[in-house]
Amino acid sequence: MKRVVKWLLWGFGTLAVLCVLTGITAWWHSEQALNAVYTINDPPLQRSTDPNVLAQGEHLYQTRGCAACHGANGEGSVVMDAGPVLRAVAPNLTPARLDPAYDVDALAAAVRHGVGIDKRGLVFMPAATWSELGDDDMAALASYLLALPPDANEPGQTEVRPLGRLLNLIGAFPLLPAAELDHQPRQRPTPPPARSAAYGGYLAAFCADCHGSDMRGGKHFGPDMPVAANLTMHADGLGEWTEADFNLALRQGLRPDGSQMHPIMPWRATAKMTDLELASLWLYLQSLPPLADKG
Ligand code: HEC
Ligand code: HEC
Repeated sequence: MKRVVKWLLWGFGTLAVLCVLTGITAWWHSEQALNAVYTINDPPLQRSTDPNVLAQGEHLYQTRGCAACHGANGEGSVVMDAGPVLRAVAPNLTPARLDPAYDVDALAAAVRHGVGIDKRGLVFMPAATWSELGDDDMAALASYLLALPPDANEPGQTEVRPLGRLLNLIGAFPLLPAAELDHQPRQRPTPPPARSAAYGGYLAAFCADCHGSDMRGGKHFGPDMPVAANLTMHADGLGEWTEADFNLALRQGLRPDGSQMHPIMPWRATAKMTDLELASLWLYLQSLPPLADKG
């Protein structure tokens, strides 16, 4: 009898030690990923103080989604506070709080590569969306940020919590866009604004993050959230839509039947796009193969 108890104790003891070791290894792996360092060597960009360039920077900031997380004036906000998983805070980007070591190139590394001033990956900052943002546009956006009026708001710090680390380790919750992006140094030409499908394709990089690079939609955001819509000209998508319907959706967030879309569709940002930008997006969507919804 004593022998059995002894063996059982040994068994449980070994199991407990194994569990602790697995936990430590998992923690170590996630620390490694979060602390990985990335060196960005894209060709240098020029800071500008030209009012037209700054206006283009502001237009990009307002229409490409930055304002939704970092605030209308760059003051920062808590993007998500999901208890044991993650607290994602989009920092204050104004000179009152931004690390003064940030220059145009460091800001480009943050926006296009998801890499912060300490060379570590930024958590939850959706850099894949802007990884192909043209050099002139990137320089304008960064020049605008560096010229923002100071705002003292302190939104706090991003924290990856234990469940977030675990989900990240098993691949269920990608947290570090930098880990998946192409950091090969290269130039990125900025296409000149023109009413064309090609220009629309450049702008649609912003839409692709949710609607997919084929614009077929299908991305899920959570239990009570709508799925990203199919934007191809198939009957499942915008096949029956007119350009006026499209403009109403992007300017006012209204579907053709007059109902309001969920705010996850960033229509407050697209509302500020120019007529030429909306027309080019529409031409681009029409140039794509019509695709049925995914299974
Ligand atoms: C979905 C929300 C979201 C959007 C949209 C977004 N960001 Fe961020 N951004 C974040 C979060 C969260 C962080 C902080 C990450 C961290 O602390 O690891 C961040 C970090 C940054 C940083 C680094 C700041 C610092 O103090 O180190 C810069 C610069 C930045 N974002 C600029 C931008 C710009 C410009 C845009 C638009 C092109 C943008 N962001 C869009 C969420 C967002
Ligand atoms: C952050 C994710 C996200 C981004 C970025 C985004 N969308 Fe959406 N979009 C959605 C979601 C989710 C819906 C569904 C909203 C609903 O049904 O309430 C939607 C709906 C739409 C609709 C209505 C489609 C329908 O059948 O009702 C159009 C049109 C649209 N998006 C166009 C665009 C365009 C063009 C862009 C880029 C300029 C874009 N979206 C960027 C998430 C996004």
